[in-house]
Amino acid sequence: MTSTKTGHSFGIDIGGSGIKGAEVDLNTGEFVGERLKIATPKQSTPEAVAKIVAQIVAEKEWSGPVGITLPSVVKEQKVLTAANIDKSWIGVDAQELFAQYLDQAFVVLNDADAAGLAEVAFGDEVARTASVIFLTLGTGIGSAFLLDGQLFPNTELGHMMVGDAEAEHQASSAVKEREGLKYKQWVKRLNKVLAEYEKLFNPHAFIIGGGISRKWDKWGELVGIDTPVAPAQLRNRAGIVGAAMAAQQNLRP
Ligand code: BGC
Repeated sequence: MTSTKTGHSFGIDIGGSGIKGAEVDLNTGEFVGERLKIATPKQSTPEAVAKIVAQIVAEKEWSGPVGITLPSVVKEQKVLTAANIDKSWIGVDAQELFAQYLDQAFVVLNDADAAGLAEVAFGDEVARTASVIFLTLGTGIGSAFLLDGQLFPNTELGHMMVGDAEAEHQASSAVKEREGLKYKQWVKRLNKVLAEYEKLFNPHAFIIGGGISRKWDKWGELVGIDTPVAPAQLRNRAGIVGAAMAAQQNLRP
């Protein structure tokens, strides 16, 4: 096994479609070597997912601490929700679970919280400034509340009711794909969601991450609320980088 290098850590991002892991250089926020991605098992049960996490760590020959994200509320290392993964995650003690599969120390945290932390460390200055709502648009909508770069963990804005449905059921990028929406149609829905968040939380800025933020040049100019909205800088690296940061800091929300 490779020994852990100073300033290096390892992050694993568990998503609805893939489980991705990479060694991260925490001085730069860059991956060291290739990212390894394995498809999320159809039945994304805790055991099936934990096995793949262990496989990624083994294949990458990593022996130091590991950070693991889940698309769930994770409070004191207990998984409390499971909106886009198998429902059997609810109530799981993440430390007990992963300890059966990993030999090293690890921390588990919400995926959007991890991505928000990475953006604070390696993204645009705006992420470290005043009050920011960071959103990831993917299978669901994840959120991280940031105040002067500090995280208020486990906010779940994707599940806020906007009109008569949850925000993520109207404006996630998965919904855009599923319903075959054009950018214009989809951003109209996103604007409605952002306007509601703006009305209730009045942040200084929103930052939008998730895969679709890579296409910002196609739809960014259609976003129309009063608060500034910026695309995330880390794009799809954010979850893994944030997880790796959390592992190094032994952050256990
Ligand atoms: C989950 C959040 C997660 C988000 C993005 C939501 O459905 O409830 O915990 O951060 O999806 O994956």
